[in-house]
Amino acid sequence: MSAGPASDVTNVVSGQQPGLSHVAIIMDGNGRWAKARGLPRAAGHERGVEALRRTVEAAGNLGIRYLTVFSFSTENWRRPAAEVNALFSLLKAYVQRDLSRLKREGVRVRIIGLRDGLPADVAALVDKAERETAANDTFFLTIAFNYGGREEIARAARGVAEAVAEGRMKAEEVTEATFSGFLDTDGMPDPDLLIRTSGEYRLSNFLLWQCAYSELVFMDVLWPDFDQACLEDALTKYRERERRFGAVLPGAV
Ligand code: IPE
Ligand code: IPE
Ligand code: MG
Repeated sequence: MSAGPASDVTNVVSGQQPGLSHVAIIMDGNGRWAKARGLPRAAGHERGVEALRRTVEAAGNLGIRYLTVFSFSTENWRRPAAEVNALFSLLKAYVQRDLSRLKREGVRVRIIGLRDGLPADVAALVDKAERETAANDTFFLTIAFNYGGREEIARAARGVAEAVAEGRMKAEEVTEATFSGFLDTDGMPDPDLLIRTSGEYRLSNFLLWQCAYSELVFMDVLWPDFDQACLEDALTKYRERERRFGAVLPGAV
């Protein structure tokens, strides 16, 4: 079962700081990293994959169990076709190259987002990665690919509407908890910490439902330069925060 808002609130009102189990990252700044070096944008994306590898390892080292990364948004289709194709190729190359190691290390891989819109070869590889790591539970790596928060919520609402129309669910059974079960992140705790690199201060349609109470850390580093030290900086900022979830903390009154 997921540690959702209810259990976080229980921790807070009992005076315990909720732990940090889930970090989500908007991996931004690949293009600017490349441009600053006179390189094509695709070179920035390639270096971004290396940063992802470093970050998965760093997260494991730092005791984080869930890492969710934003890799391609439903809005990124607006980019030139060559760049979109380069991003698909990189996802394929990442899965092809890293799957056996991830599998061996106990990593469960999940890809969230709209599967339908993906080219058949990418979709097949993504299915394979999920299938072959389905029994793992040491570390949970979730890649948001062809993902948009509003699309995910609309698709979940459609699932709920169908369940009600077919009599599998009653309208009064639609609650935050049951609705969450229709999202791609079903079974995962909400992110405790959301990091965005590259100095932009926006969510760009990432995990809109799930980040309702996440702590947000914006960093100037461009994604290809991200490393364990950057992640440690973000965790330090997180620990300085006081998570209240709307409650009044003991001692504050
Ligand atoms: C993030 O880097 C990767 C994706 C969005 C796919 P960008 O490609 O957005 O890099 P900038 O923001 O243009 O520097
Ligand atoms: C968000 O970055 C999407 C990913 C990191 C995959 P973008 O670069 O696409 O976001 P905007 O356009 O700056 O909001
Ligand atoms: Mg960007």
